[in-house]
Amino acid sequence: MIIAIDGPAASGKSTVAKELAQRLGYLYIDSGAMFRAVTYYALEQGLSNEAALKPELEKLHLKSIPGGIEIDGKKLYDELRSKEVDLNVSYYSAMASLRECLKNIQRQEALCHDVIMDGRDIGTAVFPQAEIKIFLSASPEERARRRYSQRNNSLSYEEILKDIKRRDKIDSTRDIAPLKQAKDAIYIDTSTLSLEEVLNKIEGIINNVSLCSQYHC
Ligand code: CDP
Repeated sequence: MIIAIDGPAASGKSTVAKELAQRLGYLYIDSGAMFRAVTYYALEQGLSNEAALKPELEKLHLKSIPGGIEIDGKKLYDELRSKEVDLNVSYYSAMASLRECLKNIQRQEALCHDVIMDGRDIGTAVFPQAEIKIFLSASPEERARRRYSQRNNSLSYEEILKDIKRRDKIDSTRDIAPLKQAKDAIYIDTSTLSLEEVLNKIEGIINNVSLCSQYHC
């Protein structure tokens, strides 16, 4: 079974997806971390546009590892969430060649596993056939508040709110695989819900889908 969880920046996708994966014994794949890893790599190598990045993508080895991403033999964890990566990731994520490259890796990593993958285009572009699609959202202010309390970084609440709104805009207006709710996704507004309440809702949805497929309804 494939469960796709999409939604805007800091909507709680990865916390929810990680916890669900643990409870269900599924493999968790963080697609955002892959875009972050390539952004880190591109910044480090001075690859500032698609023409420069594209030939490198063909040689690049990237894979998910617990809690991070290994790229070209280097394991990345906290670096993936640096201010520089936050500021540049939506720019690189709009590049067609990068999206194509990561879509192939995401599909390969999900082969032979029950998977929960979170991102922006999992239910629309990567796994349009996913059995369960959830679109998680919350107000930008609530998302910024959560991210501010989560991260031990130098950014103020206002800076985080600004970055979230900026990334939402780039992610949802890009030409290729924009952030968008799939037609058959279930929308959950988490603004006033606790983590446990969100998890209960999604578990209820999963149980219904499993029962339905068992009885062919
Ligand atoms: O954790 P947060 O919600 O802030 O972001 P993330 O899931 O780590 O994703 C970081 C960035 O990667 C997003 O703002 C998008 O620009 C890009 N991304 C994407 O384009 N497609 C995905 N499937 C996942 C992430």
